Amino acid sequence: NLDNLDKIVSLAKARGFIFQSSEIYGGLSAVYDYGPLGVELKRNIRDAWWKEMTRRHDNIVGVDAAIFMHPKVWEASGHVGGFNDPMIDDKQSKKRYRADMLIEQYIEKLRSDDKHEEANAIQEKLDTCGSRKSLTEDLYEIIMENEIRAPESGAFDWTEVRQFNLMFKTQFGATGSEDDGVYLRPETAQGIFVNYKNVLDTARVTVPFGIAQTGKAFRNEVVARQFVFRMREFEQMEMQYFVKPGTDEDEYEKWLEKRLEWHKFMGIREENLRTAPHPEDKLAHYARAAADIQYKYPIGWQEVEGIHNRTDFDLTQHQEFSGKKLDYYDQKNQERFTPYVIETSVGLDRLTLMVLCDAYREEEVDGDTRTVLKMNPKLAPTQVGIFPLIKKDKLQDLAHKIEKELLEEFSVLYDESGSIGKRYRRQDEAGTPFCITVDFDGVESEGEDTVTIRYRDDMSQDRVPVSRLSEVIRDGMKD
Ligand code: GAP
Repeated sequence: NLDNLDKIVSLAKARGFIFQSSEIYGGLSAVYDYGPLGVELKRNIRDAWWKEMTRRHDNIVGVDAAIFMHPKVWEASGHVGGFNDPMIDDKQSKKRYRADMLIEQYIEKLRSDDKHEEANAIQEKLDTCGSRKSLTEDLYEIIMENEIRAPESGAFDWTEVRQFNLMFKTQFGATGSEDDGVYLRPETAQGIFVNYKNVLDTARVTVPFGIAQTGKAFRNEVVARQFVFRMREFEQMEMQYFVKPGTDEDEYEKWLEKRLEWHKFMGIREENLRTAPHPEDKLAHYARAAADIQYKYPIGWQEVEGIHNRTDFDLTQHQEFSGKKLDYYDQKNQERFTPYVIETSVGLDRLTLMVLCDAYREEEVDGDTRTVLKMNPKLAPTQVGIFPLIKKDKLQDLAHKIEKELLEEFSVLYDESGSIGKRYRRQDEAGTPFCITVDFDGVESEGEDTVTIRYRDDMSQDRVPVSRLSEVIRDGMKD
């Protein structure tokens, strides 16, 4: 129900989910900070992923590798040579564009103008570019032939198309010589591959087994204007599953299915999810097969997670570059092989954006519009709002007592300011699934104290004895 990201961006800022980095200095492009609600939401999503990928599998263990790695890692992985985007500059505005995206936008425009034949012809040409060495020349030719203009200046005054490496480079140590150059990792996966042997030697795992990791990754994205969808600093959650060659195709299918199911299990609407296999001629240099799990974002169907069959590419490369043996001895069958790797790789920020977009609703209530985030209660940054109806000792004391009891198990927020209706609306916008109101009816009646609990999704209310609160909330959070 959202046709662009504007409402999510405003809500994220107004409620304290996500801010632009260094905002008081005018911001830093494609870098974002998470505020009080955002940090909780993001952590809940990360924890849910961790639980799913490690605790629910007795053969998957975790690591937390450093962001800095030996520079040779990125030569072995193919990132120094091949982690590039084809870029073209508009000489007039000095703006830089990704050449392939520029063409795709042009094709889209043709389609919306009902010029399908022309669009198909260019699409066909674009589809055959990727697999050839002459990619930059091919893209340049398409741009020239069709006189594609720069979106912002409208000019037709391009530089040639050049490959632009996406890795950030910095200096390590004091001398600052070329030899001291290190990269900020562009993916977390390599931290897993270089620890394959350490894990094998220490964790008593046997193939098939997995290694999971969450952490920051950095890419000098040039087209980065889509909020936390495409950032220059972002967080990945990756798992490499080491399997026996020959079982890789089955395992790949299994993980693709499992990962899609997990997104649904987390409460994302099924109709907004789909899988999209990559055509063979568009596969990354390391992959034998790959598919995206896509979500229908307000900016269109886009990748949230990638599943790849990376074969023995990475282990073989690291073996060659490091000179260390990275194979596997299967004791049972007394055979030696280099495992194949099935990778699941999801961006935590894209996942957070997906949760926000999927949860966002505007509903008419008594002639007013209620904005509400109907997200999985387990992911909600605040799970329970606790409100004394008015600022009176008796109500405040009981509300604080409830707060103290519940905070050991749930994330809670005590709020006594503003009308009760306003407090509910604030929590609706934060996605808080349960609000507890302490009123005089509940504390002055005979017998045990009672409170009302109000449910976010249908706004219904129940009166509940204080002693049963945890149980009622726990029930409401069940999968
Ligand atoms: N290790 C494989 C790998 O990194 P990828 O498809 O380049 O594969 C995996 O990235 C996931 O990381 C993507 O599906 C996306 O969710 C996330 N991601 C990649 N680039 C991103 C960016 N610039 N901003 C936010 N998330 C990004």
